[in-house]
Amino acid sequence: MLIRSEIIGWGHYLPQKVLTNDDLAKIVDTSDEWISTRTGIKSRHIVEQELTSDMALEAAKMALQRAGMNAEDLDLIIVASISPDNTTPSVATRVSGRLGTKIGTPAFDISAACSGFVYALTQADNMIRLGQIKNALVICSESLSKIVDWTDRNTCVLFGDGAGAVVLRACEGKGDNTDTGILDTRIYADGSHYDSLKTLGGVSSTQNAGFLYMDGKEVFKYGVNALTQAAETVITETGFSSADIDWLIPHQANIRIISNVGEKLGLPSEKVIVTVDHHGNTSASSIPLALSENLESGKIKKGDLIVITAMGAGFTWGGAIIRL
Ligand code: ACO
Repeated sequence: MLIRSEIIGWGHYLPQKVLTNDDLAKIVDTSDEWISTRTGIKSRHIVEQELTSDMALEAAKMALQRAGMNAEDLDLIIVASISPDNTTPSVATRVSGRLGTKIGTPAFDISAACSGFVYALTQADNMIRLGQIKNALVICSESLSKIVDWTDRNTCVLFGDGAGAVVLRACEGKGDNTDTGILDTRIYADGSHYDSLKTLGGVSSTQNAGFLYMDGKEVFKYGVNALTQAAETVITETGFSSADIDWLIPHQANIRIISNVGEKLGLPSEKVIVTVDHHGNTSASSIPLALSENLESGKIKKGDLIVITAMGAGFTWGGAIIRL
């Protein structure tokens, strides 16, 4: 018998305001044609009044409702974000206070950029498997529109806002790949690429958050390899092959990266979840948002075998294989 973590609830939140490529063409020198063919993005959601914690709270409430759980029953809250309300305290403590968790319930943020969901999921899964906690709420929430330079067409067309969340609960498994729940996770980093994708500023350097900068070509090349490697590792380590996978949910940065990774893994495009067309790149939120949206629509079902894979600033990357 082995303790595993199963996903028993999921939720997401998208701001109401939608910004299309045509809207962007009125702000910077770009076109729907350029953005669509280079990135696959047609529109993205943008925050108006909402803070990152407001979106996190809404995604969390939905995930708890789907899980049939009350906030007082939670043992842990982790939020992955690079766009917090305040530098300190964490978004997780703000959500915890507003949800009404028991006093003493640990809550903290993780900064792993677009790999945030895989990093946070790994942390929560490990604590559950160690027996330290019985359940966890993992939330990703990003207001990337607040750290985008709206005069820079190289970056402002790529990003969007939103939140996604899952509730994990301990379950018993046999210890083989027929189990339900998180079957394997892997996280990685390569700090030699610190400058390839970053904000041009921060608390200790410029005393402000700074706008996003990236070396697009470098991110593209590294991203395809990292996303493929992380997915391949969790598939083979658990004794599966690509043919066993029901769904691949890659980080939603760019349709060309997503298609490349799907092809390298030998997966037909019908098995690759794509939301980048209507979400843009929502960093840490992109995978839980895609998961929740597709569970809600009934496309992804309980019992399906899914692989998630993400790569982001740092560089960081990682993957997980999960039977829902
Ligand atoms: N509209 C019109 N033209 C543009 C725009 C735009 N929005 N942005 C750049 N251009 C221009 C450039 O100025 C350049 O013009 P020039 O040749 O006169 O200098 C031309 O288009 C080509 O620019 P490239 O950078 O070569 O375009 P490329 O084909 O590499 O596409 C892109 C850029 C889409 C960013 C690509 O590099 C890419 O997909 N990178 C992956 C990175 C990514 O998706 N990052 C997301 C965040 S990171 C993450 O989530 C992991």
